[in-house]
Amino acid sequence: MASAAVSASPYLISASQGERLFLAPREYQASFLANDQINLGLIGSGIQGIYDTRAALSVDGVKVVAACDLYQGRLDRAKELWGDTLFTTRDYRELLERPDIDAVIVATPDHWHQKITIAALNAGKHVYCEKPMVQKWEEGQEIIATQKSSGKICQIGSQGMSSLVNEKGKQLYEDGAIGELVMLDFYNDRYSAEGAWQYPIPPDQNPDTVDFDTFLGNAPKVPYDAKRFFRWRNYKDYGTGVAGDLFVHAFSSLHYMIDSMGPTSALATGGLRYWKDGRDVPDVSITLYDFPKTKTHAAFNAVFRVNFIAGSGGGSGFKLIGTEGELEIGWNSVTVKRSKLNMAPGDYSMVAFTEATQEQIRNNHVHPREKTRKSALKTGTTTWESPRDYKGSHHDHFYNFFTAIREKGNVIQDPTFGLRAAGAAILANESYYKKQPVEWNPVLMKTV
Ligand SMILES: NC(=O)c1ccc[n+]([C@@H]2O[C@H](COP(=O)([O-])OP(=O)(O)OC[C@H]3O[C@@H](n4cnc5c(N)ncnc54)[C@H](O)[C@@H]3O)[C@@H](O)[C@H]2O)c1
Repeated sequence: MASAAVSASPYLISASQGERLFLAPREYQASFLANDQINLGLIGSGIQGIYDTRAALSVDGVKVVAACDLYQGRLDRAKELWGDTLFTTRDYRELLERPDIDAVIVATPDHWHQKITIAALNAGKHVYCEKPMVQKWEEGQEIIATQKSSGKICQIGSQGMSSLVNEKGKQLYEDGAIGELVMLDFYNDRYSAEGAWQYPIPPDQNPDTVDFDTFLGNAPKVPYDAKRFFRWRNYKDYGTGVAGDLFVHAFSSLHYMIDSMGPTSALATGGLRYWKDGRDVPDVSITLYDFPKTKTHAAFNAVFRVNFIAGSGGGSGFKLIGTEGELEIGWNSVTVKRSKLNMAPGDYSMVAFTEATQEQIRNNHVHPREKTRKSALKTGTTTWESPRDYKGSHHDHFYNFFTAIREKGNVIQDPTFGLRAAGAAILANESYYKKQPVEWNPVLMKTV
């Protein structure tokens, strides 16, 4: 099968304001045999379930045959999108019983991921489980064990990690483009109500169209509440806060690029400052993580922060800062900045020396870092962009999943990887609610 590799020689498109290059497109296996079709069932036909299914259907030889959801309007929407012959149900167990289904997407709220993923693997289905893999890190080992015993494929859904730019970022990091990693800076500032999880509540919601009791699952029993159902992220009983929603993507990409198992401690702060709409999770969240020295990276510190009240309009960033440069990973581009190190001292410090001494210092100046510089890569700014016709990371993540099913291979984000990313993210919540630092063993994947 054709590999999905990035060419070493990208195409130059412009050389002003730093070099801008296009990454070479990926190559995909052209098509699959008719008897190779994978029949898919969707469990949780909400926003991400629809985006996931679209991405899945963009891979050759995949058909969606069933959808499950707890709100009737979402099942109606599924038929509107994928045809009246689609099997629909409110009970995921009915979907799992169907022998015509090979694989399922689990795109329910976080508190259902573990139970449905395990049930699906035990029913002999391959599983694409949305991130964060688990709501509580303690739930992770059972998924890992069930995936192994079932022999089925399980891909976790932080799709950004499968992007061309993540792959290029990894290659640049391994080539020493930033020297040793010193700091990781991740932020996401949002302004809109939708960005702050104020999702629309449909006018036809009521206890008949919504199966609220099933939605609650093992969470505490509360009376019917449409806000809890349609805006579940705002409640810690069902979601994982910004850590499980957003930090987890950054952890997945970071762990992949630098080949890390994760941090050893987290210290979180923040608060609920603006969105006082009944939610019980913070809308400002800042967490400091410590990563230990390993074979693949030096010890470094990471700052993860999310703000849902950005009056400036918002924005996001994800930057690896190293001894020799920095690597900025965007949605569609990766930029390396490497500065010249042979800078002579400036006027600021030279002012107190005679002209003759200044001259001597300038002539003999060697930047202290020059001796320890590891990479011979050139200085300056270089940006690599995905090609214009790139199918995107979501396509690639599903392509990787379906290829692993067809070829009995491995996925890029298996449950162990998924638990390391989710566990690191969830650590922020533990620290926030306990108001103290929390230590984590990234090898054993549990708190210390
Ligand atoms: N990978 C990404 O970029 C990405 C983006 C958004 C969301 N997500 C993840 O996808 C998941 C879903 O998020 P969303 O934004 O689509 O939420 P959503 O509320 O739009 O959709 C969730 C759906 O699950 C249904 N549901 C709830 N419990 C169920 C159950 N027991 N059985 C069947 N259906 C059930 C709900 O009725 C709802 O329609 C979350 O875990 C979220 O973290 C991932």
